[in-house]
Amino acid sequence: MEISVVWILGIYFVPVFYGFEVEARNLQSPQIEQPYRTAYHFQPPKNWMNDPNGPMYYKGVYHLFYQYNPYGALWGNIVWGHSISYDLINWVHLDHAIYPSDPFDINGCWSGSVTILPGDKPAILYTGADTKKNQVQNLAVPKNLSDPLLREWVKSNQNPLMTPIDGIDPNFFRDPTTAWQGPDRKWRVIIGSQINGHGTALLYQSLDFVTWTRSQKPLHSSNKTIMWECPDFYPVNIHGKNGVDTSMQGGATATKHVLKASFNSSDYYVVGNYEPKTDQYLVVTDFMDGTQPPLRYDYGKFYASKTFYDSAKQRRILWGWINESDRESDDIKKGWSGLQSIPRSIWLGKNGRQLVQWPIKEIEKLHGKQVNIHNKELEGGSVFEVVGITASQADVEVSFDLPNLQEAEFMDLNLANPQLLCSQKTAYNKGVIGPFGLLALASNDLTEQTAIFFRIFKSQGKYAVLMCSDQSRSSLIPDLDKTTYGAFVDLDPLREKISLRSLIDHSIVESFGGEGRTCITARVYPSLAIGEEAHLYVFNNGSQSVKILSLSGWSMKKAQIVPIQKRRKPPIN
Ligand code: FRU
Repeated sequence: MEISVVWILGIYFVPVFYGFEVEARNLQSPQIEQPYRTAYHFQPPKNWMNDPNGPMYYKGVYHLFYQYNPYGALWGNIVWGHSISYDLINWVHLDHAIYPSDPFDINGCWSGSVTILPGDKPAILYTGADTKKNQVQNLAVPKNLSDPLLREWVKSNQNPLMTPIDGIDPNFFRDPTTAWQGPDRKWRVIIGSQINGHGTALLYQSLDFVTWTRSQKPLHSSNKTIMWECPDFYPVNIHGKNGVDTSMQGGATATKHVLKASFNSSDYYVVGNYEPKTDQYLVVTDFMDGTQPPLRYDYGKFYASKTFYDSAKQRRILWGWINESDRESDDIKKGWSGLQSIPRSIWLGKNGRQLVQWPIKEIEKLHGKQVNIHNKELEGGSVFEVVGITASQADVEVSFDLPNLQEAEFMDLNLANPQLLCSQKTAYNKGVIGPFGLLALASNDLTEQTAIFFRIFKSQGKYAVLMCSDQSRSSLIPDLDKTTYGAFVDLDPLREKISLRSLIDHSIVESFGGEGRTCITARVYPSLAIGEEAHLYVFNNGSQSVKILSLSGWSMKKAQIVPIQKRRKPPIN
């Protein structure tokens, strides 16, 4: 097996890299025409992409499938795009894995997941839009398991396996999860739905993965939300960052279970205890229920995400779809729409209530030129430029010390809406401790800038850390969605330093506050701060000084994300 993978590498990667060089040369002049294409985020060469589907690690290869329109830059004609990678950073695009072909999916092959069945056999469950545009669930398996790239998939002749009967609305029945096996050997899967107007995770069971029976009780539902799209359900270790296989039942002392549902343009999650014998799922704080703002993977643009267990590195990895914030007419002009987030490792934080996310380690392979700054005081009202790296394509990590913390403003944050707070108390409104942080994709004169920053408040005898991503000045172009995003970071600044990491890539700024406790992703389209005209600054607009404990910034190299060459044999000399 090892030998054949290396052999395949030789055959595919030589021409692919050659192809890449050709492409890179050709791209030099169109750079200006395509200032918003990213350098190290996953994108197909052109057209529309939405949800990540069926990510998996299989025999040395990472696979990513995704919702894709082969015919244009807007949603429609949905097939499963397919790309493979050896490191989750550099990708090779293959032919589509699944496309509409039969009555059970003729109107679209929608989202779904992969489960690796006993005997190392991957199986895709996906939603088909049938001849009547009803949503049904289908199965597809690899045509040839000895092809390490799993290029061809065949659909089961028993499809559709699950249909919207017994009161299920055919428009609200989609996006099967990775299945997990219970102690009775039966497979379980959940399907996103809406029953009587309430978001619901319908539960199905099967012994053979083909005949599925609906359980009387859904796994979970909420009368505070609408339709749940793209649910995800998986165990997390209570202690440590290692991931857990989806079928692993560690018991309530070792693991908790996360349920994620996509609605209101966001990915919300709850953490609870799952009892596999009875399929009971109990949560302490339910969706939209707590006194705190509801938990989300990301408080910016991030939707329809999916995790998978990476058995090679014992970690769970999260992929999310990052939509555009421009107009449809802009997407048609660009010829493309949609990114995938940088894959993130995800685990349960020490507080046992919240998840933590961090860009996968492999991203550091793209680190180029580095700058470092240590122990630099930032007086109130100061801004300084980080020079020496490519500000439009960078990875920056900074940590701050707050010597005058006790001066923080008081605010009653009990009922505060952090997003609203960020849009009222912007980067440009002076504060006391903060706003301080980064100005990314900024023009020379700062007319354009995306501000990612913190403000500290005293509230009910504690300190509260607000994190914001303010896009309001990100571009001179009108009619873009420039919503300001915000969330609190679960961190006590008396005990811990405040840190921020931002992955900047031409039209995306993915930010991780408090070492990944709060994540905010923004899409921006500067008109001045493009390519070499983009700058990066650190700023402090509070009256009290703050100190940069350390800042490391790297220019990021371009990832190799290229189409596969059709030629399958090495050239004959
Ligand atoms: C989420 C979603 C899914 C559906 C897919 C269709 O973005 O609406 O519910 O399966 O996209 O492309």
